[in-house]
Amino acid sequence: MNKENSMSQGDGVDSLYAMTTEEIEECRKHLMIGGGTRGGPVLHHGKGVRVWDIDGKSYIDCTSQSWALYLGYANDEIWQAVQQHARRLTHVHQGFDTLPRFALARKIASIAPPGMSRVSFVPTSALALEGAMKLALKNRPQSANFLCLWDSYHGTTLGTMGASWITTRSNGQYVGGSRFLPLTRQCVRAPNPYCYRCYFGQKPETCDLMCAKMLDLTILKGVNGPPAGLLMEPLQASGGQIIFPRRYVEAVREICDRYGIPLVFDEIQTFVRIGKWTAAEYYGVTPDFLVLGKAVGGGLPLGVTIVRDGLLGYDPDTEELHTFANNSLSQVASLKLLEIIERDRVLDSVNRIGEYFKEGLLRLQAEFPEMGDIRQVGLHIGVEFVKDPESKLPLEAETKKIRDEAMRRGVIFGLAGVRRNLLKIKPPLIIGREECDEVLRILGDSMQAVFR
Ligand SMILES: Cc1ncc(COP(=O)(O)O)c(C=O)c1O
Repeated sequence: MNKENSMSQGDGVDSLYAMTTEEIEECRKHLMIGGGTRGGPVLHHGKGVRVWDIDGKSYIDCTSQSWALYLGYANDEIWQAVQQHARRLTHVHQGFDTLPRFALARKIASIAPPGMSRVSFVPTSALALEGAMKLALKNRPQSANFLCLWDSYHGTTLGTMGASWITTRSNGQYVGGSRFLPLTRQCVRAPNPYCYRCYFGQKPETCDLMCAKMLDLTILKGVNGPPAGLLMEPLQASGGQIIFPRRYVEAVREICDRYGIPLVFDEIQTFVRIGKWTAAEYYGVTPDFLVLGKAVGGGLPLGVTIVRDGLLGYDPDTEELHTFANNSLSQVASLKLLEIIERDRVLDSVNRIGEYFKEGLLRLQAEFPEMGDIRQVGLHIGVEFVKDPESKLPLEAETKKIRDEAMRRGVIFGLAGVRRNLLKIKPPLIIGREECDEVLRILGDSMQAVFR
């Protein structure tokens, strides 16, 4: 390890960062992980949009670490708030009230769509979605199955895994999620509106929303009993950064209303990143349950379930109880994050810089037609790589090579799409134009190395 790289702040962890290469390899043998794209660098420290590895190499991180660090690495204001609060309280049992929890509940209710004013906290995103599933079941007695969309991803807890594409053969083979079927059978799927490869051969100009009609038919003919709810990412992330047409989202709301099916928006990735507080606001469609996670904790673990007024919420008889559901540190970090987003007009800059990114990507596309589709809303950006625009043959191996080339050159991109031919560009929301230019230049160089 590069010793010069040690931050040496006398912060009580210096000795940990003095680990030798041999020690690292010894430790590696004991570690078991169940997912995530491996093979990247061992990370050492980060600041803003950049992260450094243990050899001192720096990267612009266009993954924001699972898309969760909206203000980048080591935001001073967040960490000061967390450090100060750590002297008062860290972990608190869910049954005790605290002022940060009160304040955060009120704050989240103020940014949620009107008419969604009750908020519950859990330790992480997928648990918050399971919370919405519980409440949907509670509000729909006699229901058992959920609806979800093709290629959606909602997590890997046993409750959410059955709604994630990883239990299907979407990417050509059965992967991890398909091994736990006895406990993940509660979902029935309907087509997603994947307009770039419309399953019904329709063109955007003449589309008559066959996917929404299929949802309607699935409800009528494909589900045993009344569906408990429809789980939906209003813009699909892991499935391929797929932006749903507004007409489709409106049609889904109408269908759910017609059949009395609770609509659950999984906004774990869309929240703020799409340049609005929520996708509900972006589409002008209010769900019955709205779920936040990932970045909402300001870099610390936090999941949030928000319930529409008039629906049953939790009763305090152990419907939802978690040891770490009342994490003061996450709540304080979240409050600081939300304060900074408002104060620094982060939503405006997400829209501006997202457009700037898109213009740069379109310029690259003129040179590289393999960039088959560029899908951008705010800083929720994906590029789908294909052999050529006509055949749209997915380029899985090449996309991975581009990712690897970019990593070598100092930019970390995400890989996604059920065909693994999608590069995800989702940097911290504080990225500036110069850093965007650097990302675009390195993307161009990486494509040059792979395609020419
Ligand atoms: C849309 C969406 N929902 C749910 C989850 C699960 O979140 P977590 O892994 O934080 O529980 C993810 C994670 O990637 C996600 O992208």
